[in-house]
Amino acid sequence: MKLKISPSILNCDIANLSRELDLVGNADRIHVDIMDGHFVPNLSWGVPVAAAVAQATPVPVDAHLMIEDPDRWAMEYAGAGAELVNFHIEAAKAPIRLARQLRGAGVKAGMALRPATPVEPYLEWLEEFDLVLVMTVEPGFGGQSFLPQTLAKVRKLRAAINERGLTTEIQVDGGINRETIALAAEAGADNFVAGSAIYQAEDPHAEVAKLRELAERAQ
Ligand code: DX5
Ligand code: ZN
Repeated sequence: MKLKISPSILNCDIANLSRELDLVGNADRIHVDIMDGHFVPNLSWGVPVAAAVAQATPVPVDAHLMIEDPDRWAMEYAGAGAELVNFHIEAAKAPIRLARQLRGAGVKAGMALRPATPVEPYLEWLEEFDLVLVMTVEPGFGGQSFLPQTLAKVRKLRAAINERGLTTEIQVDGGINRETIALAAEAGADNFVAGSAIYQAEDPHAEVAKLRELAERAQ
Protein backbone atom coordinates (compact mmCIF):
# COMPACT_ATOMS: atom_id res chain seq x y z
CA MET A 1 0.00 0.00 0.00
CA LYS A 2 1.47 3.33 -1.07
CA LEU A 3 1.47 5.74 1.87
CA LYS A 4 0.79 9.44 1.54
CA ILE A 5 2.15 12.25 3.69
CA SER A 6 0.11 15.45 3.61
CA PRO A 7 1.54 18.49 5.42
CA SER A 8 -1.10 20.83 6.86
CA ILE A 9 -0.15 24.46 6.29
CA LEU A 10 -2.53 25.72 9.01
CA ASN A 11 0.30 26.83 11.29
CA CYS A 12 3.09 27.40 8.80
CA ASP A 13 4.66 30.82 8.24
CA ILE A 14 1.76 32.22 6.25
CA ALA A 15 3.58 35.41 5.28
CA ASN A 16 6.02 33.17 3.39
CA LEU A 17 3.52 30.63 2.12
CA SER A 18 5.24 30.02 -1.19
CA ARG A 19 8.55 29.28 0.52
CA GLU A 20 6.84 27.04 3.06
CA LEU A 21 5.29 25.06 0.20
CA ASP A 22 8.67 24.68 -1.50
CA LEU A 23 10.06 23.14 1.70
CA VAL A 24 7.72 20.14 1.40
CA GLY A 25 8.01 19.37 -2.29
CA ASN A 26 8.50 15.70 -1.36
CA ALA A 27 4.98 15.50 0.13
CA ASP A 28 2.09 13.72 -1.60
CA ARG A 29 -0.56 16.37 -1.01
CA ILE A 30 -0.77 19.77 0.67
CA HIS A 31 -3.58 19.79 3.25
CA VAL A 32 -5.44 23.13 3.36
CA ASP A 33 -7.72 23.55 6.37
CA ILE A 34 -10.82 25.60 5.61
CA MET A 35 -12.62 26.79 8.78
CA ASP A 36 -15.70 29.00 8.88
CA GLY A 37 -15.96 29.95 12.57
CA HIS A 38 -19.29 28.06 12.78
CA PHE A 39 -18.70 24.35 12.16
CA VAL A 40 -15.52 24.82 14.20
CA PRO A 41 -14.68 27.68 16.59
CA ASN A 42 -11.91 29.02 14.39
CA LEU A 43 -11.64 30.89 11.13
CA SER A 44 -8.94 30.25 8.55
CA TRP A 45 -9.17 30.55 4.80
CA GLY A 46 -11.53 30.31 1.88
CA VAL A 47 -11.52 29.58 -1.84
CA PRO A 48 -8.95 32.23 -2.93
CA VAL A 49 -6.27 30.88 -0.60
CA ALA A 50 -6.90 27.29 -1.72
CA ALA A 51 -6.59 28.46 -5.33
CA ALA A 52 -3.38 30.35 -4.53
CA VAL A 53 -1.86 27.26 -2.93
CA ALA A 54 -2.82 25.12 -5.94
CA GLN A 55 -1.09 27.67 -8.19
CA ALA A 56 2.01 27.94 -6.03
CA THR A 57 2.94 24.25 -5.79
CA PRO A 58 3.05 21.24 -8.11
CA VAL A 59 2.01 19.04 -5.15
CA PRO A 60 -1.74 18.22 -5.34
CA VAL A 61 -4.02 20.06 -2.92
CA ASP A 62 -6.29 18.41 -0.34
CA ALA A 63 -9.00 20.85 0.84
CA HIS A 64 -10.39 19.93 4.28
CA LEU A 65 -13.69 21.76 4.62
CA MET A 66 -14.61 22.37 8.26
CA ILE A 67 -17.61 24.45 7.29
CA GLU A 68 -21.34 24.38 7.85
CA ASP A 69 -22.54 24.30 4.28
CA PRO A 70 -20.30 22.02 2.19
CA ASP A 71 -23.20 21.39 -0.23
CA ARG A 72 -22.89 25.05 -1.22
CA TRP A 73 -19.09 25.35 -1.25
CA ALA A 74 -17.37 22.05 -2.07
CA MET A 75 -17.55 22.50 -5.84
CA GLU A 76 -15.86 25.90 -5.52
CA TYR A 77 -12.82 24.12 -4.12
CA ALA A 78 -12.88 21.71 -7.02
CA GLY A 79 -12.83 24.77 -9.28
CA ALA A 80 -9.95 26.20 -7.26
CA GLY A 81 -7.78 23.27 -8.36
CA ALA A 82 -7.99 20.87 -5.40
CA GLU A 83 -7.28 17.24 -6.25
CA LEU A 84 -9.25 16.07 -3.21
CA VAL A 85 -12.14 17.76 -1.40
CA ASN A 86 -12.85 16.48 2.11
CA PHE A 87 -16.18 17.54 3.58
CA HIS A 88 -17.64 16.66 6.98
CA ILE A 89 -20.41 14.12 6.90
CA GLU A 90 -21.96 15.82 9.97
CA ALA A 91 -22.42 19.03 7.97
CA ALA A 92 -23.47 17.78 4.54
CA LYS A 93 -27.18 17.72 3.77
CA ALA A 94 -26.84 15.44 0.74
CA PRO A 95 -23.40 13.79 1.05
CA ILE A 96 -23.91 11.24 -1.70
CA ARG A 97 -25.09 13.84 -4.19
CA LEU A 98 -22.13 16.01 -3.25
CA ALA A 99 -19.60 13.17 -3.58
CA ARG A 100 -21.02 12.34 -7.01
CA GLN A 101 -20.81 16.00 -8.08
CA LEU A 102 -17.16 16.17 -7.06
CA ARG A 103 -16.25 12.92 -8.78
CA GLY A 104 -18.22 13.96 -11.82
CA ALA A 105 -15.93 16.99 -12.01
CA GLY A 106 -12.87 14.73 -11.86
CA VAL A 107 -12.06 15.53 -8.24
CA LYS A 108 -11.60 13.01 -5.43
CA ALA A 109 -14.30 13.03 -2.76
CA GLY A 110 -13.45 12.58 0.92
CA MET A 111 -15.82 11.92 3.82
CA ALA A 112 -14.56 13.47 7.07
CA LEU A 113 -15.66 12.25 10.52
CA ARG A 114 -15.28 14.14 13.81
CA PRO A 115 -13.81 12.03 16.65
CA ALA A 116 -17.21 11.24 18.21
CA THR A 117 -18.95 10.41 14.92
CA PRO A 118 -19.34 6.64 14.49
CA VAL A 119 -18.25 5.09 11.21
CA GLU A 120 -20.73 2.19 11.07
CA PRO A 121 -23.64 4.16 9.54
CA TYR A 122 -21.41 5.20 6.64
CA LEU A 123 -19.70 1.92 5.77
CA GLU A 124 -22.30 1.08 3.14
CA TRP A 125 -21.42 4.31 1.29
CA LEU A 126 -17.68 3.65 0.95
CA GLU A 127 -17.98 3.04 -2.79
CA GLU A 128 -19.12 6.64 -3.24
CA PHE A 129 -15.89 8.09 -1.80
CA ASP A 130 -12.17 8.04 -2.60
CA LEU A 131 -11.12 8.66 0.98
CA VAL A 132 -12.37 8.66 4.57
CA LEU A 133 -10.80 11.24 6.88
CA VAL A 134 -10.81 10.07 10.49
CA MET A 135 -10.19 13.13 12.65
CA THR A 136 -7.78 12.18 15.42
CA VAL A 137 -8.37 15.48 17.30
CA GLU A 138 -11.46 17.67 17.56
CA PRO A 139 -11.28 19.81 14.43
CA GLY A 140 -10.56 23.50 14.82
CA PHE A 141 -6.94 23.94 15.82
CA GLY A 142 -3.50 22.60 15.08
CA GLY A 143 -1.12 21.43 17.78
CA GLN A 144 -3.60 19.32 19.80
CA SER A 145 -2.94 15.87 21.25
CA PHE A 146 -3.85 12.75 19.30
CA LEU A 147 -6.96 10.89 20.53
CA PRO A 148 -6.08 7.15 20.48
CA GLN A 149 -9.77 6.13 20.82
CA THR A 150 -10.28 7.17 17.19
CA LEU A 151 -8.12 4.27 15.98
CA ALA A 152 -10.99 1.82 16.52
CA LYS A 153 -12.67 3.53 13.54
CA VAL A 154 -9.53 3.19 11.44
CA ARG A 155 -9.46 -0.55 12.16
CA LYS A 156 -13.15 -0.96 11.21
CA LEU A 157 -12.59 0.95 8.00
CA ARG A 158 -9.49 -1.02 7.07
CA ALA A 159 -11.37 -4.30 7.60
CA ALA A 160 -14.33 -3.16 5.47
CA ILE A 161 -12.14 -1.72 2.69
CA ASN A 162 -9.98 -4.84 2.44
CA GLU A 163 -12.95 -7.19 2.63
CA ARG A 164 -14.62 -5.44 -0.26
CA GLY A 165 -11.43 -5.06 -2.29
CA LEU A 166 -11.71 -1.25 -2.36
CA THR A 167 -8.89 1.27 -2.75
CA THR A 168 -10.46 3.93 -0.50
CA GLU A 169 -7.75 5.86 1.34
CA ILE A 170 -7.89 6.20 5.12
CA GLN A 171 -6.60 9.58 6.21
CA VAL A 172 -5.81 10.55 9.80
CA ASP A 173 -5.56 14.20 10.80
CA GLY A 174 -4.61 15.78 14.11
CA GLY A 175 -1.72 15.21 16.50
CA ILE A 176 0.21 13.06 14.02
CA ASN A 177 3.92 13.00 14.88
CA ARG A 178 6.82 10.53 15.01
CA GLU A 179 5.13 8.53 17.81
CA THR A 180 1.50 8.55 16.78
CA ILE A 181 2.05 7.94 13.07
CA ALA A 182 3.12 4.38 13.82
CA LEU A 183 -0.06 3.72 15.82
CA ALA A 184 -2.23 5.04 12.99
CA ALA A 185 -0.32 3.06 10.34
CA GLU A 186 -0.61 -0.15 12.39
CA ALA A 187 -4.37 0.42 12.65
CA GLY A 188 -4.58 0.65 8.86
CA ALA A 189 -4.33 4.32 7.92
CA ASP A 190 -2.46 5.08 4.69
CA ASN A 191 -2.67 8.88 4.47
CA PHE A 192 -1.21 11.02 7.24
CA VAL A 193 -1.80 14.73 7.74
CA ALA A 194 0.74 16.49 9.94
CA GLY A 195 0.91 20.20 10.68
CA SER A 196 3.01 21.10 13.69
CA ALA A 197 5.18 17.97 13.47
CA ILE A 198 6.35 19.07 10.02
CA TYR A 199 6.38 22.84 10.25
CA GLN A 200 7.90 23.02 13.72
CA ALA A 201 10.66 20.66 12.68
CA GLU A 202 14.01 22.22 11.88
CA ASP A 203 13.90 20.65 8.42
CA PRO A 204 10.33 20.11 7.17
CA HIS A 205 11.54 18.27 4.06
CA ALA A 206 13.48 15.77 6.18
CA GLU A 207 10.51 15.43 8.54
CA VAL A 208 8.21 14.42 5.67
CA ALA A 209 10.73 11.71 4.76
CA LYS A 210 11.11 10.63 8.39
CA LEU A 211 7.34 10.35 8.93
CA ARG A 212 7.02 8.36 5.72
CA GLU A 213 9.74 5.97 6.84
CA LEU A 214 8.15 5.46 10.29
CA ALA A 215 4.71 4.83 8.78
CA GLU A 216 6.12 2.37 6.24
CA ARG A 217 7.92 0.49 8.98
CA ALA A 218 4.76 0.26 11.12
CA GLN A 219 2.46 -0.81 8.30
C1 DX5 B 1 -7.38 20.48 12.76
C2 DX5 B 1 -6.92 20.42 11.33
C3 DX5 B 1 -5.62 19.71 11.16
C4 DX5 B 1 -4.48 20.37 11.85
C5 DX5 B 1 -3.33 19.43 11.98
O1 DX5 B 1 -8.67 20.98 12.80
O2 DX5 B 1 -7.90 19.74 10.54
O3 DX5 B 1 -5.35 19.53 9.78
O4 DX5 B 1 -4.04 21.52 11.20
O5 DX5 B 1 -2.36 20.03 12.78
P1 DX5 B 1 -1.49 19.19 13.81
O6 DX5 B 1 -0.74 18.18 13.02
O7 DX5 B 1 -0.65 20.19 14.46
O8 DX5 B 1 -2.47 18.50 14.76
ZN1 ZN C 1 -7.30 19.13 8.52
